[in-house]
Amino acid sequence: MTKTNESWGSRTGLILAMAGNAVGLGNFLRFPVQAIENGGGTFIIPYLVCFLLMGLPLLFIEWSLGRFGGKSGNHSTPYILESMGSKPIWKYIGVFGIFTNIAVVAYYTYIESWTLIYVVHTLTGTFSGWSKEEISTFFTLYVNLEGADFGIPYFPLLVYLFVLGINVYILSTGLGGIEKVAKIGMPLLILFGVILAVKGWTMGSSYASAEFPDANAWDGINFLWTPQFTSLADPKVWLAAAGQIFFTLSVGMGSIQCYASYLKANEDIALNSMTAGFTNEFVEVLLGSAIVIPIAAGFLGLDWVLENAGFGMAFQTMPYLFQQWGGVFSVIAGVSWFGLLFFAGITSSLAMGTPWMGFMKDEFGWSRNKGAFSFGILALIMGIPTVLFYSYGYFDEYDYWAGTVSLVIFALLETILFSWIFGIDRGWAELNRGADIRLPLFFKWVMKYVTPVLLLLVFAGALFTPEGNDWVGAIQGLTEGRSWKLDSDSLLAKLSFEDIYLEMEKEPERKAFF
Ligand code: PHE
Ligand code: NA
Repeated sequence: MTKTNESWGSRTGLILAMAGNAVGLGNFLRFPVQAIENGGGTFIIPYLVCFLLMGLPLLFIEWSLGRFGGKSGNHSTPYILESMGSKPIWKYIGVFGIFTNIAVVAYYTYIESWTLIYVVHTLTGTFSGWSKEEISTFFTLYVNLEGADFGIPYFPLLVYLFVLGINVYILSTGLGGIEKVAKIGMPLLILFGVILAVKGWTMGSSYASAEFPDANAWDGINFLWTPQFTSLADPKVWLAAAGQIFFTLSVGMGSIQCYASYLKANEDIALNSMTAGFTNEFVEVLLGSAIVIPIAAGFLGLDWVLENAGFGMAFQTMPYLFQQWGGVFSVIAGVSWFGLLFFAGITSSLAMGTPWMGFMKDEFGWSRNKGAFSFGILALIMGIPTVLFYSYGYFDEYDYWAGTVSLVIFALLETILFSWIFGIDRGWAELNRGADIRLPLFFKWVMKYVTPVLLLLVFAGALFTPEGNDWVGAIQGLTEGRSWKLDSDSLLAKLSFEDIYLEMEKEPERKAFF
């Protein structure tokens, strides 16, 4: 194993890179959709509780694992976990921490490529004067590879290759390159986000129209921020909240451990991890919620938003609505929105590239160029089917396994490793070594008992999701002697691959995947 002395250039660089890792498409595309689908104000309490009891503790654990591994020259989860668990099995569990990154990055960079081309289209004025239908159809044709964009067939594939190439290039320049991108990308992203959020907060009902007389941006904001207590007993909402916390904080993947492994042995992790985590939450809760939902509600009304929540809002509805502002603000809004998504995306996809590179370097002494290039090839191999078969709903299935189930299982195992095998006393000491802040002891007990139990519950909940996701009905049914019927979306049913057969029998259907 070769030792590397590579480390982060500065504390600001580290925090921006870690915040860039977390702040991603999840904040702006996934969060609003999850919030709407789970009842707005009903979502927010479980979401915050999950942040406190699972998100933060997992950040502490992953930063500790990473810095611990870095001390002995390990930069990816197979060796980090093995060195903490001192049993070979942990090495194999750690392999997930490389694999899921590549699996997720494959489709993640594809979406990233859409955002880049939408910036170009905004600048070249493609959408100006187009009707709602035209803009919406444009997206459909694009993702189905049916539109010859700029007269070039298979154009989306080329853009995808280009964006993967940018990622590979930046990765080949090492941590320094990643830091530089984060230093430029994060402030710009926040600036773009604030421009749009101000619009979201101030437009009120001034864009109501004859077609949508009740349109009011405030309805969107109130919908999210009026807490509802009725749903607290509904496991469905808790599962969705936990899933969002995982995805948005980038935990359960192996990429935080990798970034943290480039810290120096006594560099603070307690305060740094909190800062990065809270930055993500600030961006998600304040900016992520203040753009798509209020702006769409301001033009089309809350009812429309509730019915049409989904991936299309970002790429079909938004570009049309921006046109309505007219003049230069249409362009500013479009560039802000898609530029924001692009920077959010690239600082996250870079993070997903590093575990593979770290592993190949530690294990085989591969150079950065070789590591970055091979990463690109792997992502491409996994990404091609996603690009070609988008219209078959392939994304959904893929995102479910790589971006949801794996994260929960991995997080559960690493929590057990940290709190029970490595031992919470040693773990707590590790976390607090060199700390610039005194963490409340509360978290020690949370990491030992609460986090693993909650993770187990989340896992069990996914495994046994009842038909129609109707927990209340299913539990009531049990007490009345009826049997538990699994939903086809439950993990247990999926493990039998029942829904894949069903899917294969069906006509291809256009689906959104987030
Ligand atoms: N946290 C990122 C987002 O919100 C996604 C991500 C997951 C990035 C895992 C890196 C690792 O979009
Ligand atoms: Na995020």
